[in-house]
Amino acid sequence: MKILLVGSGGREHALGLGLQADPECTELHVAPGNPGIAEFATCHPLVVSDNQAIVDLAIQLDVDLVVVGPEVPLVNGVADLLRAAGIAVFGPSKAAAQLEGSKNFAKEVMADAGVPTARSFTCTTQSEIEKALDAFGAPYVVKDDGLAAGKGVVVTRDRQEALEHALACKRVVIEEFLDGPEVSLFGISDGKTVLAMQPAQDFKRAHDNDSGPNTGGMGAYSPLPWAPTAIIEDTHKKVLAPMIAEMAARGTPFVGLLYAGLALTDHGTRVIEFNARFGDPETQVLIPLLKTPLATLLYKAATRNLEGVKLEWKNDSAVTVVLAAKGYPASPQSGDLIGDFPLVENTVIFHAGTARNEKGLVSSGGRVLTVTGTGSDLTEARDRAYRAISHISLDGSFYRTDIALNASVAEKGN
Ligand code: AMP
Ligand code: GLY
Repeated sequence: MKILLVGSGGREHALGLGLQADPECTELHVAPGNPGIAEFATCHPLVVSDNQAIVDLAIQLDVDLVVVGPEVPLVNGVADLLRAAGIAVFGPSKAAAQLEGSKNFAKEVMADAGVPTARSFTCTTQSEIEKALDAFGAPYVVKDDGLAAGKGVVVTRDRQEALEHALACKRVVIEEFLDGPEVSLFGISDGKTVLAMQPAQDFKRAHDNDSGPNTGGMGAYSPLPWAPTAIIEDTHKKVLAPMIAEMAARGTPFVGLLYAGLALTDHGTRVIEFNARFGDPETQVLIPLLKTPLATLLYKAATRNLEGVKLEWKNDSAVTVVLAAKGYPASPQSGDLIGDFPLVENTVIFHAGTARNEKGLVSSGGRVLTVTGTGSDLTEARDRAYRAISHISLDGSFYRTDIALNASVAEKGN
C-alpha cells in the first residue's frame, strides 16, 4: 500500500513511524513533512492549506490512502475532493469536520445525539453575550465559534476580559465552567463503527503547575492509572458511538479520527470539545503504545471496513514532553541551532518545528521537538523522556518539568 500523509508536526512524525512500521505500507510519502520524517519517508513540499495541491500530489503519486493530519485542510473539504477523485482517505468530509470547525454545530449534534456537554448559549450580539456571561457567572468560558488556531477559547474570572474576547468573535459560544480532570479520548471511525483508543492526558498550559498561557499542548501521557477503569467503554457508549450514529443519520458520516476532549466532573463525563483529527502531542504517546498495525487500521476505516476490528495495546506506559522555543506561544523565536543530542534507550525524538539549513538543524516553530519515553510504568517512561530532553540544547528553549508527575506518584500508591 502506498500512503500519502499530510502534515509536518510531531503528530505526523509519530503517525508516519506507525504507518511505516506496518508491513502493508510499501511506500510512505509525507507532505510537507519535516527533517525528522525525512529520515524514513519521502517528503514533498506543499502548503497544507492548498487542497488542490494535496489532491494533485495524491493523484501524481498514485497512492492507495491519504491520511490527513491537521484540521485546516479537512475543514476546507480536502477529503471530499480526494474521495471524488477515487482515493481512499482517512479524514472526515467538510460537513463532518464541522464538529471541529464550528463549536455551535458540535453543540447541536451533541444535543441531538444526547451526548453530555456543558450548557451553553450561542451569541452574536452584545446583549446576548452579557446575558449569557451573567447566567453562568465566573469562571467564564468563551469560545470563538470558528477555527482559531488554538486561540479561540478564553477561560477567565475577569468579566471584562471575557466580554472583550466575546465581542472580538463573529459568533461565540459561552458555556458553563466544567470542573474536573481533562482527558483526551480518540475514536477511529469508518462512519458506522467507531473504535475507542485508550485515553491520554494533555497539559495545555505553558508552565509547571498549569500556570502561564494556553498552548497547543506541552506534554502528554498514557495510560491514566487514576482514571475510572470503565472510561473507554463508557466514552464509547455515551459519546463516540452516539456521535457517529448521529452524523451517519444526518447523511454526513464521520470517517476519520474523532477526538473527544472530556472533563470528568462530579456529575459525570462531559464533552469539552471535539476535534476532527489526531491530537498533538497525545498522538506521540498513543502511537508508540498501539500494537495494531496502523496502516491497515486506517485503511480499513477509510474504506468503511472496521467492523470486528479490535485495538491492541502494549502493556507499557508512555510520556511525552514538548521542547518549546523561546517566546512560545505568543511569539516563538525561530532559526536557532539545535545541538546534537545523544540517543537514550526507549525514547523517540519527534520533530515538530524544525528545519535544516546551512547551519544544520534549526528551530522553525513554537513547539520544536516532542520527546517520548516508554517504559513498564509512567515513572520509568518519565525518567527516560526527561533524561533525553535534558541533553538537547536550544537557546532560550523551555519545557515543563511536571508532565505525568502526579500520575506517576499516584501509580506508585496503587
Ligand atoms: P479547546 O480549545 O476547546 O480545547 O479549549 C481549550 C481549553 O480550555 C480546554 O482544554 C480546557 O482546559 C478549557 N476549557 C474549554 N471549555 C471549558 C469548560 N467548559 N470548562 C472549563 N474549561 C474549559
Ligand atoms: N492537544 C490538543 C489538540 O491536539 O488539540
